[in-house]
Amino acid sequence: MEFAGKKAIITPEACLIIATYDENGIPNAMNAAWGTQKDPDEILIVLSNHKTTENFEKTGAFTVAFGTVDTVVISDYFGVESGKKVNKIEKAGVHVHKSAHVNAPIIEEYPLTLECTVKKWDPEAELLIGKIVAMQADESILTDGKVDLGKLKPISFDPSMNLYRVLGEPVGHAFKDGLALR
Ligand SMILES: Cc1cc2nc3c(=O)[nH]c(=O)nc-3n(C[C@H](O)[C@H](O)[C@H](O)COP(=O)(O)O)c2cc1C
Repeated sequence: MEFAGKKAIITPEACLIIATYDENGIPNAMNAAWGTQKDPDEILIVLSNHKTTENFEKTGAFTVAFGTVDTVVISDYFGVESGKKVNKIEKAGVHVHKSAHVNAPIIEEYPLTLECTVKKWDPEAELLIGKIVAMQADESILTDGKVDLGKLKPISFDPSMNLYRVLGEPVGHAFKDGLALR
């Protein structure tokens, strides 16, 4: 079946939770699916105008946490209401503290969080590049000192059916399995 003219399905898409402070130190969070790694220490996210963008324009900083199976409801909530109207952090009942490295909040309900400064923000192109200056990971998601995605249980946004899906079991070894054909 051809889907000409329909919206493209690109998968997997992320479930990134971007947290910021406003000029008065009030925390906010939003959900973003269109984001990816740009360099080992950089993240690229596509953003239209939001309370979030207004916030990091003033503070120059944000954090990025990863939606998980245990945080589906709050993660979706952060994407369906704007901090321009409501204090979403209070309404979601989550706990935050200030990052030790950047002027942005860390939401304690998420087990993995990147602490970022704004490297480049182009509102016309809707492109944000963040420099990742530190990463916080709960002990509960580590195996031998490494982040274990099997324990993190990150979710992916499914744009075809408007679902969140959990990322699954390992099925191969990167940079290794293909060597059999080289
Ligand atoms: C699953 C999902 C994915 C989203 N992805 C993006 C995205 O990649 N970029 C974007 O600008 N908005 C995205 N949004 C919309 C924002 O999260 C939404 O407009 C939010 O209310 C903005 O919050 P804020 O105004 O408090 O910053 C997404 C929403 C959902 C539910």
